[in-house]
Amino acid sequence: MIETLLPPGVASSEAFDDAAPAPLFPAEAALVAGRRARRRHQFATARACARHCLADLGHAPVPLLPGPGGAPAWPAGVVGSITHCDGYRAAVADHSGRTSALGIDAEPAGPLPPGVLGLITSPAERAHLATLTAADPATPWERLFFSAKEAVYKAWYPATGTWLGFRQATLTLSPTGTFTCTLHPPPEAPPVNPTYEGHWLSTPALVVTAVHRAG
Ligand SMILES: CC(C)(COP(=O)(O)OP(=O)(O)OC[C@H]1O[C@@H](n2cnc3c(N)ncnc32)[C@H](O)[C@@H]1OP(=O)(O)O)[C@@H](O)C(=O)NCCC(=O)NCCS
Repeated sequence: MIETLLPPGVASSEAFDDAAPAPLFPAEAALVAGRRARRRHQFATARACARHCLADLGHAPVPLLPGPGGAPAWPAGVVGSITHCDGYRAAVADHSGRTSALGIDAEPAGPLPPGVLGLITSPAERAHLATLTAADPATPWERLFFSAKEAVYKAWYPATGTWLGFRQATLTLSPTGTFTCTLHPPPEAPPVNPTYEGHWLSTPALVVTAVHRAG
């Protein structure tokens, strides 16, 4: 389903369980060696998704290790993004000449834990959320807010190496399945267009968000 959130030609792969994990490269296995089995299996399935994407782009399988800030170090000439949560793992990737930024995120549907909304939104964003919820109470708008900002961060960070908190981003969600997020980076951040466009979807179990910027 994630391909519906991205332009044609962007490679994508997803899984809803860990039935087909990738054999991990030794350096990848070492990263999760001490983790709980659930995390190791999710990690391996997400790596399988990432390697499907690389194959679609004509790249041989390589280890995908975390670079600075935790962003996966894709092969030269590739941009991509990975997400995994209970019930979903996915990766997307494209040639960097065609796509300059990609970010995806998935979250279980449902309300955010108590206290989180105030940490990730401004008063104006909470007013926007109240309007969305009044018009469509069945959609988990708060969870979508959280996910969309994380997808934006995953698109922003590899290009800038700059940490941004949730309150350094102003998000507008449209009921039609799109969103716009304007970042408020610190002055020392590299000059990158601060406005990201994305798409979202919601199922009874999941929210999924994706940001794409053409190269
Ligand atoms: C990094 C972060 C976005 C990951 O999101 P998450 O919901 O916790 O976890 P997900 O499973 O969706 O994504 C994890 C994957 O994100 C990727 N990732 C981690 N750090 C990243 C970064 N700095 N940039 C891009 N991708 C990153 C990795 O591939 C990771 O999977 P892996 O460890 O198996 O390689 C989140 O933990 C975080 O730190 N958020 C705070 C910053 C933020 O979102 N600000 C919003 C304002 S723009």
